[in-house]
Amino acid sequence: MKIINTVADMKSIAKTNRRGAVFTMGALHAGHRALIEQCRSLIGDQGQLVVSVFVNPTQFTNQNDLLKYPRTIESDIQLCESAGVDYLFVPSVDEMYPSGVTLPQLTAGNLGTILEGASRPGHFDAVATVVHRLLDITTPDVTCFGEKDYQQLAVVRAMVKAHHMKCDVVGVATVRDYDGLALSSRNVRLTTEQRAAAVCIPRALEECARIVEATGDTADAIDAGIRVISAEKSAVLDYFEIRSTELAQSPQSGEARALVAVSFGDVRLIDNYPVNIGRVQS
Ligand code: PAJ
Repeated sequence: MKIINTVADMKSIAKTNRRGAVFTMGALHAGHRALIEQCRSLIGDQGQLVVSVFVNPTQFTNQNDLLKYPRTIESDIQLCESAGVDYLFVPSVDEMYPSGVTLPQLTAGNLGTILEGASRPGHFDAVATVVHRLLDITTPDVTCFGEKDYQQLAVVRAMVKAHHMKCDVVGVATVRDYDGLALSSRNVRLTTEQRAAAVCIPRALEECARIVEATGDTADAIDAGIRVISAEKSAVLDYFEIRSTELAQSPQSGEARALVAVSFGDVRLIDNYPVNIGRVQS
């Protein structure tokens, strides 16, 4: 595996085969590994697999969150080596945002202002901007993004389409811990008590999915989910919504997505589930 620190070096690597890329902020775990493995299977043994580790400062709307973001480059390198990554791109902030150079600033549009975007204004504009730059630097044919960050996946798909970029964006199912909590780099910041309480998130989503499938009543299902979270004293709910799979208004029936954000102290966790809205019995 080659470790690359500059944009010029990354751009100079000849494309000899189908190329795949997985973009991360490091502190890699089994969720990231699933993306890397999926990407490898999509490009084949001979493909060129690129992983980036870059804690993008512009997408943090909370400076404390940026300061406390876990940085574990040594174990990230090991995970990438063992997962068969060919190129690990680890640029500095100056490399990604050189001073005196004006780079395209993208907007995520309406998709960037709902759900996570309502609580973190500008976050998805910054994500769209950095992913556009990473795609431009690494030039993959395919890139894998986690469904864990469902809205991010939607924003990236829309950005790639709007800019006519020739890259397939593939969504990968969320990897969960033993009790159902979605793996996240931020989980290490939870206290033992908060970690135990955080299982209320997948339980609430499960309860919501069960009720909406049985009754078709989205408001009732959301209330039931909120009750599961409210039963945990340390959990502070930000939002709990059911939307269409494209994150527009929820359909009356059929496939949809339940999405939730909950804070434990200063650690904010997000998760989502596919739900199937049943037909209301008359
Ligand atoms: P990061 O949070 O490091 O996530 C990198 C990728 O891993 C994202 O596509 C995310 O959805 C995926 N991922 C994280 N946890 C996962 C899990 N439990 N199961 C499956 N996939 C998971 O998302 C970012 O970084 C940044 O916003 C980035 C796209 C790199 C832009 O800076």
